Formats: sequence, structure tokens, C-alpha cells
Amino acid sequence: MVDTAHRNTGVEGVAGGVGVTALLVAAARAIETHRPDSLARDVFAEHFVLAAPASAGWPIHPRQVPEGDADPLWGRFARYFGLRTRVLDDFLMQSVHAGGARQVVLLGAGLDSRAFRLDWPPGCVIFEIDREEVLAFKHQVLDGLSAAPKAARVPVPMDLRGDWAGALPGAGFDPAAPSVWLVEGLLFYLPPAAETYLIDTVDRLSRAGSALAFEVKLDKDLLEYRDSPLYTATKHQIGIDLLDLFDREPRPDSAGNLTDKGWSTSVHTPFDFTRRHRRGPLPEQNDALAGNRWVFADKPRP
Ligand SMILES: C[S@@+](CC[C@H](N)C(=O)[O-])C[C@H]1O[C@@H](n2cnc3c(N)ncnc32)[C@H](O)[C@@H]1O
Repeated sequence: MVDTAHRNTGVEGVAGGVGVTALLVAAARAIETHRPDSLARDVFAEHFVLAAPASAGWPIHPRQVPEGDADPLWGRFARYFGLRTRVLDDFLMQSVHAGGARQVVLLGAGLDSRAFRLDWPPGCVIFEIDREEVLAFKHQVLDGLSAAPKAARVPVPMDLRGDWAGALPGAGFDPAAPSVWLVEGLLFYLPPAAETYLIDTVDRLSRAGSALAFEVKLDKDLLEYRDSPLYTATKHQIGIDLLDLFDREPRPDSAGNLTDKGWSTSVHTPFDFTRRHRRGPLPEQNDALAGNRWVFADKPRP
């Protein structure tokens, strides 16, 4: 299989635009990794942050965040990403070990290092879709660390606003076998039509017994919490205007669409998992996280 992402070793894809959000998540995971009460460990995350000029000065350790959880960006928001990482790690491990699927697709994979750090059962294949420049930067860093994946890994450089459905079977994905899909921190950057296409495509390529987890933001989140400390701190401390990067058009009801297609879905707030793990962000006033929902869906076997 041709790994086209390796041909481009530039860092432009993570230095600006939506690619820089992958560095934000990586920095959060680096900080989480070093917390004494860490929810998830990602030893690769800090290397991504340090390798990109856009993020080289960002914190990668809690001791570099003097205000701790009171820092809206590197405290509370970073902890949110730590919790999300843990919850979705658990979803993936449950889906492959108990559910039996051996194909995993990470949509908007960014600097997700799960292929390198989770204990995958034999025979697993991880497909990673993101923009070519982002995957190229990822490979540049991982190659420098001589990192070895713990499962077969297939980068699929594609823009998810386009017609990407054919790329997966072309990369070796088998629609006749059960699959697990992860859409973490992606959908709010896509136009509504691209989100609908993504959900329709996942459904079409998923055999019964497949599972999907994705994150959405309720429409009211964008309108009600635009001056929340979380968005303001992200803009002022590191120059990322998340609201500017989000697609502002009305969102489709993707959980409802899947239910209509016969999937069984459950919708959670992040705070549900904070309570379960006894660690993580709790609700507060004017909270940009209040509209976030984590959706888990299964395509039932007949
Ligand atoms: C916030 S990051 C999340 C990355 C990863 N899922 C994680 O949680 O670490 C969002 C990712 O979506 C990717 N992305 C956004 N729009 C995209 C598009 N149109 N096509 C492909 N990837 C896209 C970005 O390049 C970035 O890597």
C-alpha cells in the first residue's frame, strides 16, 4: 500500500487553520500524561507539541501551568481532552476486545497516537484519515522517535469535506467485516453537508456489529457561550479562535439520523464521565463545554 502522506514532510498543516487544533489536543494530552491523577497517558503527545513552531512554547507538563485547573485553557480545557481521550480509549478497546471488530477508522485522526499506545488484539488494522499535511507532520515526528505501531496502520490522506468514501475500500478497508469508527473533535469543523455525508458513509460501510463514537456540539453552544472563559483564553493565550474555526451553520441531528437508520444510540454529556471517573471538568456558568455531547452508536446484529 502506498503511504502518500510520507511524501510531504512540511509542518504547514498543523501550523495554521484547523490543523493547529490537533496540536492543542496534543498539548492537553501531554499535560494529562504527567498529572499524578492522569486519566490517559500519551507519551507521544509532547513530542508533537515541541516539534511544531506554532506550539513549541506551549506547556506540556502541569508544572508549567501555575494556575492549575483554574487556568481555563491549560487547566480545565486540557482536563476535558484528557477525559475525552480516556473515554474514547475505553470505547475502542471495548469494541475490539469484546465486540470483536478488527478494523478501526479514525476520522480527523490528527495527532491521535492510539495506534502506537493502545493494546490492540492481533489482526487489527487502524485507518487514519486527516489532511495530508497533518499526517505528514505526524509521520515526521513519529519517524524521528522510531515509534512502532501496535497494529497495522494505514494513513489515508483525504479532505473530509470531499468525496472520501471510495478512499477507504481503496486502502484495504473491508465493508463486509465489522468496523469501529471514531470521530473525535472533528464534526464542528465540517459543513453540515459533510457531516451528513460522513454519517451516511459510516452507515453504508458498516456491517452489523459495527460501532461508532462521535462528538457534537449543540447549536446553542455557539450562540450562548461565545464569550466563555474557555474560548476567550484559547484565543488570547495561544491565538486559536475556535469559534472562527467552527462551521457556524445549523448542525444536522446525526444521532437521530443514525437511530432512523436502525442504529442504537446513547448520548452523554462529558460531565456524565467526570462523575463516573471522579475526575474531569464539572459544569460551570457560561460554559463552552455545556453543549458538547459524546454519542455512542451500535449497528445491531440481526
Ligand atoms: C481537534 S483536532 C482532533 C484530532 C484527533 N481526532 C484528536 O482528538 O486528537 C481536529 C482534526 O480534524 C482535522 N480536520 C478538520 N477538518 C478536516 C477536513 N476537512 N478533512 C480532514 N481532516 C480535517 C484536523 O486536521 C485536525 O487534525
